[in-house]
Amino acid sequence: MSEMRENVSQHPDEIVQRHLANYPSHAREEFAEAFAREGLVRIDDLLPKELADALSEEAVHLLRHHSRRREVVLPSTGNTPRAYRSVARDVIATHGKLIPWFFHNEAIREFLSEVAGERLHKVPYEPEEFIVNSQEAIGDTHGWHFDDYTYALIWIAEAPDPFAGGRVEYIPHVSWNKEDPEGQLRELLINRKIHSMYMPAGSCYLMQTHKTLHRVSPLTDYSRRTVIVYTYASERDLHDENITHETMEAIYAPEIT
Ligand SMILES: [Fe+2]
Repeated sequence: MSEMRENVSQHPDEIVQRHLANYPSHAREEFAEAFAREGLVRIDDLLPKELADALSEEAVHLLRHHSRRREVVLPSTGNTPRAYRSVARDVIATHGKLIPWFFHNEAIREFLSEVAGERLHKVPYEPEEFIVNSQEAIGDTHGWHFDDYTYALIWIAEAPDPFAGGRVEYIPHVSWNKEDPEGQLRELLINRKIHSMYMPAGSCYLMQTHKTLHRVSPLTDYSRRTVIVYTYASERDLHDENITHETMEAIYAPEIT
């Protein structure tokens, strides 16, 4: 590890605090406006470059040494597929350093809270705190779904070739019909405009995941898209007894007992 990398890994709190304290206020306002309008906002420099690179490198390292393939179809989201390689939360907590650090960092959560327009809380369900997912084969996808909690921050560790799929597609401002997920999905895909965005490596996006139907489109060529998914709860989520975890349990069954 280079001297620079050692430094960022040893003092990430001070580095990120300084970086975010100097973040221009007009940019924060633009993020907040875009987020309210779109349910999703891309942020290109949440972390300074050395720290961003070190975070991404940790994800790729864990993926290489501690990952597992997941291939499931989920009735709870309208029989949409999940096909990718991933590293579950407990494995990351054991072998990772910067990925858990990011989740627990107060300055980052405060910054994201300002963008969201309300306080983000650490998700009260450990398996969702942080996960590494990687689409690696042609056809690998994270199919259409809503999330259980209100917010997710997705960090792009490796971006696919822009000609090879792996784009974020989404329809904002809708609520999950858990009684008929497939019927709802069909209706929305027929009648609503689907937004589509490319996310480059080192960027991240904050999404209002429980009110935004979203997917990552299938890879169409040999490429790789590796992300770290962080989940945050709204104040309301903390008291919502209807939040369930079937989707997570179905995908990560080997690690969640
Ligand atoms: Fe999601």
